[in-house]
Amino acid sequence: MSPDRRVALVTGGAQSIGAAIADGLAASGVSVVVGDLQASDSHMSYSLDVSDEESVSAAIQKVIGEHGRLDVVVNNAGIMLETRIDEQDRASWDRMLAVNLTGPMLVTKHAAPHLAASGDGAIVNVGSIEGDRCNPNHAAYAATKSGVHGLTRATAIDLGPMGVRCNAIAPGWIDTPLNSSYVDAHPDRQVVIDALADLHPVGRVGAPADVADVVVWLASAESRFVTGQVITIDGGRTARPPLPGILQ
Ligand SMILES: NC(=O)c1ccc[n+]([C@@H]2O[C@H](COP(=O)([O-])OP(=O)(O)OC[C@H]3O[C@@H](n4cnc5c(N)ncnc54)[C@H](O)[C@@H]3O)[C@@H](O)[C@H]2O)c1
Repeated sequence: MSPDRRVALVTGGAQSIGAAIADGLAASGVSVVVGDLQASDSHMSYSLDVSDEESVSAAIQKVIGEHGRLDVVVNNAGIMLETRIDEQDRASWDRMLAVNLTGPMLVTKHAAPHLAASGDGAIVNVGSIEGDRCNPNHAAYAATKSGVHGLTRATAIDLGPMGVRCNAIAPGWIDTPLNSSYVDAHPDRQVVIDALADLHPVGRVGAPADVADVVVWLASAESRFVTGQVITIDGGRTARPPLPGILQ
């Protein structure tokens, strides 16, 4: 790979949204490295557990050792374990925080000096519309995504003087294995897909590529004066407050 090309690390980039982001960045001319618990079929990938500081440090050293630079970090790796708040067990709460919130902090911390050296370093954190709202049984998930939105602003403030921008995206319903259990639990999958589509002014749920295109922009110089922002990508779903069914 040419040292002239910008280099991006995409965590959780082996499948779904992360894989689409990795594809989008590669198509835009960036050299992509995926860091994931599992290997990527399409991109160079390193074994990475974002919740483990040694693993994070080793992966970033490997990127620098093999590519000589790091310009873009996409903190995408995330998990969703569901429990009602009064039944929340400590181990599941701790795991959610470790992966979804501590993970992006650790990757940012270890990537920061290299992003600063880049001259136009960019971090994109993957938050969620649940960073500002919440589905039932999602206390831990929503808390981590609210945390990611706050971490994004803090990072933009701390690293801005070093020439590093940091933004977050807040996707709505994107069709991936993370949420397919809701759809698959219903006897008629299409009924759920249609009902979900009705929630969206654009008439459909999201696809990973819908998210990836915005991330590519946030990682590029075209967004050079944008930092500390959380950009919602939800097909307009949260722009429309719910009405009782009888009034629709
Ligand atoms: N799917 C949606 O509707 C939706 C909506 C809003 C936000 N998000 C967020 O988008 C991100 C990606 O979600 P997705 O739907 O593509 O999920 P997914 O479960 O399909 O993929 C997640 C990827 O992260 C990897 N991963 C999990 N734990 C890891 C760890 N500790 N270290 C490194 N990699 C790890 C997995 O191996 C997998 O490749 C997550 O942060 C999620 O919270 C998803």
